[in-house]
Amino acid sequence: MNESVVGNGEVSTGHMNQRARDILMSNDLGGYTVPNKNVYPFQWNWDSAFVALGFAEFDIDRAWKEIETLFDAQWQDGFVPQIVFWQENDGYFPGASVWQTGKTPATSGITQPPVAASMVRQIWEMDKSDKNRAHIEHLFPKIMAWHRWFDKYRDPLNKGLVVATHPWETGRDNAPEWDEPAAAVDISAIGPYERRDTLHLDKKMRPHKEDYDRFVAMVEYGRAQNWDHKTIATEGPFRVVDVGMTMMLIRANKDMLALANEFDFEKDAVEIGNWIHRAQKGVDFLWNDKIGAFCSKDLISGRSSGIISSATFLCFYAGVGSDMQRASVSRNLEKIATTTRFLMPSLLPDNPRFDAMRYWRGPVWAVVNYMISKGCREVGLVDLSERIKLDTAALMKQSGFYEAFNPETGEGTGGEDFSWTAAMWLHWAGK
Ligand code: DGY
Repeated sequence: MNESVVGNGEVSTGHMNQRARDILMSNDLGGYTVPNKNVYPFQWNWDSAFVALGFAEFDIDRAWKEIETLFDAQWQDGFVPQIVFWQENDGYFPGASVWQTGKTPATSGITQPPVAASMVRQIWEMDKSDKNRAHIEHLFPKIMAWHRWFDKYRDPLNKGLVVATHPWETGRDNAPEWDEPAAAVDISAIGPYERRDTLHLDKKMRPHKEDYDRFVAMVEYGRAQNWDHKTIATEGPFRVVDVGMTMMLIRANKDMLALANEFDFEKDAVEIGNWIHRAQKGVDFLWNDKIGAFCSKDLISGRSSGIISSATFLCFYAGVGSDMQRASVSRNLEKIATTTRFLMPSLLPDNPRFDAMRYWRGPVWAVVNYMISKGCREVGLVDLSERIKLDTAALMKQSGFYEAFNPETGEGTGGEDFSWTAAMWLHWAGK
């Protein structure tokens, strides 16, 4: 009998745990973990933060190392890049020679959702030993510098929100929220380029060519500005307040405040408290009354996306919204729960742009589920929180540790043996 399968035909938890650990160890290139060896062969910012949670389940020193390696690539002004090119690999486009940020180590010129603070606090909560105290003392000022960078460069309205200057910054690269704002980006002058993602994966799982043309045009714009983040965020061709990054930053600041209080970083605590206070009110800017949810908003056209995506439900994780707003968002969530086999689709299946296998236009992502489930539990939506966790575990048991999953059939989509999916199993879904 196959020992990895239990009586009901399901893969055993022990086997899943071992498999998840093996994936993390095999994607570990020494101090940092690649999301997937073929598709993403470098260190990615928010991937590493989630991956650290997985390592913390069996090797807490390695967990700290993951995040500390990421912050080794922090720029002088506090910026933490989306990608760190620790070594060369021509299996990915756009590589370091396209970004030309002139940094050592080589990095991309955009950032990613600021989740590191939340994962750092979570690891600290798992083991408050003196040894781990030193890691917090080392990382806290670095994360603070990154959050100050967001405050300085990415909040032009002074409302505590986050303006994304490239869809890749949001982590949700081809989410339909970016369709209209990105369509306005001039692609007429882009140079020739060759995609590598579709060498590794079926193109039906990846963004369309028109998306890539726009992604490239935005990289070329940033490069032409010598990655001057002030200019890019105030004059650039793509400036969208991302509901996802905004909610994750608010949550991250709340986690930073808890750490600041615990470690007696009094001045920092006051500064963070002001950011949170401003953001709690500022999120009203994203509220779309017609659909009854927080939505991303294009600063150039002034238009709300009017789209409910999985990022919408991160408002619970951020702990924002009036009673009326929360009730409205949870009604939306309950409706999706009754009509969708596996929660949480990245786009609602009744949206005409829904595409069950295509990256951020339908598939379920374990890390987003983790945050939504955590937020739901914290605001008392316990059944929904549990349902999201069980669905996530069921997807992994059915299909393995894929990058994402089809919300209707459970089929895996994107890269296989994906680090953050394995990490979410170990830290959360598999428990
Ligand atoms: C990609 O290249 O698809 C990545 O998601 C960018 O971060």
